[in-house]
Amino acid sequence: MAKKVFITSKLPGKIDRYLRSRGFTVSVYTGKEPVSKNELIKKASKAEGIITLLSNKVDREVLDELSNCKVIANFAVGYNNIDIQYAKKKGIVVTNTPGVLSDATAELTISLILACTRRLIEAEKFMREGKFKGWMPDLFLGTELKGKTVGIVGAGEIGTEVARRIKAFKTKIIYFNRSKNSIIENELKGKKVSLDFLMKNADIISVHLPLTEDTYHIINRSNLKLMKKSAIIVNAARGEVIEEKYLIELLKKKKIKGAGFDVYENEPDINPELLKLQNVVLLPHIGSATTETREEMAMLAARNVEAVLKGKKPITPVN
Ligand code: DGY
Repeated sequence: MAKKVFITSKLPGKIDRYLRSRGFTVSVYTGKEPVSKNELIKKASKAEGIITLLSNKVDREVLDELSNCKVIANFAVGYNNIDIQYAKKKGIVVTNTPGVLSDATAELTISLILACTRRLIEAEKFMREGKFKGWMPDLFLGTELKGKTVGIVGAGEIGTEVARRIKAFKTKIIYFNRSKNSIIENELKGKKVSLDFLMKNADIISVHLPLTEDTYHIINRSNLKLMKKSAIIVNAARGEVIEEKYLIELLKKKKIKGAGFDVYENEPDINPELLKLQNVVLLPHIGSATTETREEMAMLAARNVEAVLKGKKPITPVN
């Protein structure tokens, strides 16, 4: 009998067709919002393979109901939405989508940095409100990147791609990472430093750590308060890596210059205090949101499912 694959959302590209052509029975959840936990359990309980979104929480309660499941392919590089240890215990392979989204996420990060340093969102709003009455020497003065120190927190693939791109703006790179990054060190002449040193010395801080038990609130009041008053921080990784409440306090009191958010601590709920601030740029978690990348992510997820259900090694396993 054909093995069943459940996809928790319509995905870019034609992966449902691809999986059908490989002999699987495919069903796709077509709701406009992320599938609820109950619906996920109901729809996925018989499936051998499941493709999930980062907005689908796959905890013990869900995993216990997936009696046929052999593989969960998360449509994301991050997989903090899945209890991977418990999945492993139950013999379920979990995979993610590394690599294919690094360029898109790096491009978005650079956009976020520039939006903050050059005050693009404020300036655009000003235009739409009909406030532009002519060129003035001090209209929307921003911060230049040239000569500034950029601190990359988490120098994996995405952090490295951000470093490569930001270096082209004539910046100096410092980075915080568990291991040495030879691309940043050799090609970009960057230096590995402690997190405190980075927080204290960087003019731009760009966060790229995955969310794990070790990185939860790794950026917190004790190191956020080291930031320069002129510095900005951007986060396109996971909200929970930063103690958001304290960051908001600093922004409110103008103890730092600004911040760019693509991710939030209680996503999709957003701290209402953030919405009141002028010195922030707020995006709805669109780091990897390009047509090209999302199609590649979908295909990688589908190929992971296919591999496992055909008894082969997964391409990009995480557990
Ligand atoms: C991921 O893949 O983890 C990203 O956050 C999605 O953009």
